[in-house]
Amino acid sequence: MSEVAKLELDGTVYEFPVITGSENEKAIDISKLRGNSGYITIDPGFKNTGSCVSEITFLDGEQGILRYRGYSIEDLANKASFLEVCYLLIFGELPNKSELAKFEATIRKYTLVNEEMKDIIDGFPKNAHPMGILSSLTSALTAFNPKPLNVESDEQVYEAVCKTLAKFLVLSSWVHRKREGFPLNYYDNSKGYVENFLRMMFAIPTEEYKADPVIVDALDKLLILHADHEQNCSTSTVRVVGSSHAGLFASISAGVSALWGPLHGGANQAVIEMLEAIKADGGDVEKFIAKAKDKDDPFRLMGFGHRVYKNFDPRAKIIKKAADDVLNSLGVNDPVLDIAKTLEKAALEDEYFKARNLYPNVDFYSGIIYRALGIPTEMFTVMFAIGRLPGWIAQWLEMRKNGEPIGRPRQVYTGSNLRDFKDIASR
Ligand code: MLT
Repeated sequence: MSEVAKLELDGTVYEFPVITGSENEKAIDISKLRGNSGYITIDPGFKNTGSCVSEITFLDGEQGILRYRGYSIEDLANKASFLEVCYLLIFGELPNKSELAKFEATIRKYTLVNEEMKDIIDGFPKNAHPMGILSSLTSALTAFNPKPLNVESDEQVYEAVCKTLAKFLVLSSWVHRKREGFPLNYYDNSKGYVENFLRMMFAIPTEEYKADPVIVDALDKLLILHADHEQNCSTSTVRVVGSSHAGLFASISAGVSALWGPLHGGANQAVIEMLEAIKADGGDVEKFIAKAKDKDDPFRLMGFGHRVYKNFDPRAKIIKKAADDVLNSLGVNDPVLDIAKTLEKAALEDEYFKARNLYPNVDFYSGIIYRALGIPTEMFTVMFAIGRLPGWIAQWLEMRKNGEPIGRPRQVYTGSNLRDFKDIASR
């Protein structure tokens, strides 16, 4: 017999089906609540509300578990490449050699971006934030690809996926190059996806560029760790925008804008800005730890704790080792990073932070690595977007293929009741 939930309202008992996920998560299906009872639920921030069923990512905040299509984040980060993970998230299975070769070859078909895109980039002031430019350029891709995507055509979907992964990477690097006043680089189809990003970001015409394998490996791992995270703010945005049948590029553009916020993808930029402020103030970490503990002090530590992970962020454990490897390998000597290590040690040992599960999260360490890689602070959230792109694509496709209805929440009105109109003479 299927499980039901009972709710008594105004003396009437209503029954609602309970659904159970493949990892035994339980949900009450209230899709008939308003029709049967006239009531709705309310849940600001949707902390208790599921928007969909999904087969893509499973996470358990209490146990610190994260899996993409059933594979642990630990296995994927240590044994797979970012493009293998892109393929897994989007198509549901890890690619075999020939599938991966075809995927990489098809991406290479689309690595040349329409030159008219440069006219759009030129329209931005040099100090425009990279995420604002990237969101605009992503939406502009619709102008160059106006034909709506038929999600029922596997061939059209495959080509659109590869085109999106290719163009987004090139445009992300162009955002940086434009801000630095450097010539825009082109993708080199003889090199790998992640190596190409570094080359497009940092190669200058006057010198030969060779990507450091340590950096390529660290960045590949970072992108895997950011690839998907179930119904986070930006992914939910992509799904809701896509539910109106807006195109893939328009939906991803909206996701970029959502990720920009300092409470979401902008947290990695905020971490470095916090560390730089501590350094500028004299570098007294203990002083700022005391400020963080003082409830009357507005200072808050960025990069600690997580809305979903109650004990630790499994990605942070992996990225912490990558940060140590990169800093040791590059022999980076950076006082801001020294402050970060002191802060990390304090947070991991201090009962105040341990009791509140304020452990260093993925944003704390990713900011450190990006800084060590020489990536400008305002580009950190673009790095997050490059990593999250396959997750956005996978979730958008799942939503469309499942034929989900347009996302349109209800509300509880608390404004004025009916009032008589007053003309301006009597106001
Ligand atoms: C993410 O990876 O999207 C962030 O951890 C935020 C979240 O999951 O809510």
